[in-house]
Amino acid sequence: MGDSETIKVIKGRRAIRDYDTSKDVPDELIYKIIEAGGYAPSAENQQPWRVIVVRDKKLREFIGQTAVDRTILLFGRATPRQELERRLSYIESKASRERTIDILISGQRFEYIKGNPETDGAPVLLVLAVDQTHVGNSQATLRGTGGVYGWSGPRHAVIAGAMMVQNMALAAAALGIGSCVSSVQLDHFDDVGAISKKLGIPFPHWVPILCLTLGYAKYDRTLGPPRQGPEEIAFLNKWGQHFVKEDRK
Ligand SMILES: Cc1cc2nc3c(=O)[nH]c(=O)nc-3n(C[C@H](O)[C@H](O)[C@H](O)COP(=O)(O)O)c2cc1C
Repeated sequence: MGDSETIKVIKGRRAIRDYDTSKDVPDELIYKIIEAGGYAPSAENQQPWRVIVVRDKKLREFIGQTAVDRTILLFGRATPRQELERRLSYIESKASRERTIDILISGQRFEYIKGNPETDGAPVLLVLAVDQTHVGNSQATLRGTGGVYGWSGPRHAVIAGAMMVQNMALAAAALGIGSCVSSVQLDHFDDVGAISKKLGIPFPHWVPILCLTLGYAKYDRTLGPPRQGPEEIAFLNKWGQHFVKEDRK
């Protein structure tokens, strides 16, 4: 059985970090992408998300530089080079692997978030924030019933937010628009607070968890990092018992 159009889009979507800066993404398409995002599932359909469309140059510079600085600390200082080499061992050519490591440890890999045309930056940056008080705390009738929902409030919000972003990435891919999910600029307490302040997000009630750049890809990128197949990632009935489909047994 061949892949359906939807599955082709799912498999064909790639993280795009080099953009054709001669082409902008019109607001009409950004609307379509956000609208598709809003069709994601969420616990009790509470839709605990807000999207900020960031085009402002100064804001882009601030968010992008936060990503670059954090990447230098994360990959340039905290991660041993052997570990980076291990993670990127799927890149066969030694020269390409070395180049990827160089742009990671120098933070150059995340320049695209700033949106500068000189570095093939993305014309649009979406920032997704989720309502941390989602489910269990946000409804008056459920307030104080933390025992019923446990820690599901913030967890559900993040899960729903991630699904929302994936919907947007797939909708963009279906429209021929490249995208890249990024979180490095939001992973540290200091950064998430600083970015929230710049964007006026009422943090920590609302928390920005992911960014999504949008733009037309400069290069066709069909080959992504390798994926593990179902036979590796799925079990039948019990952890450790590999799920092998009938005709492979
Ligand atoms: C939670 C999350 C965080 C990510 N953070 C970053 C990031 O900070 N910067 C970036 O360029 N890509 C980031 N990515 C993109 C991944 O690197 C990319 O999706 C992965 O390597 C697989 O490549 P593909 O999307 O082309 O298939 C992130 C993806 C996810 C889901």
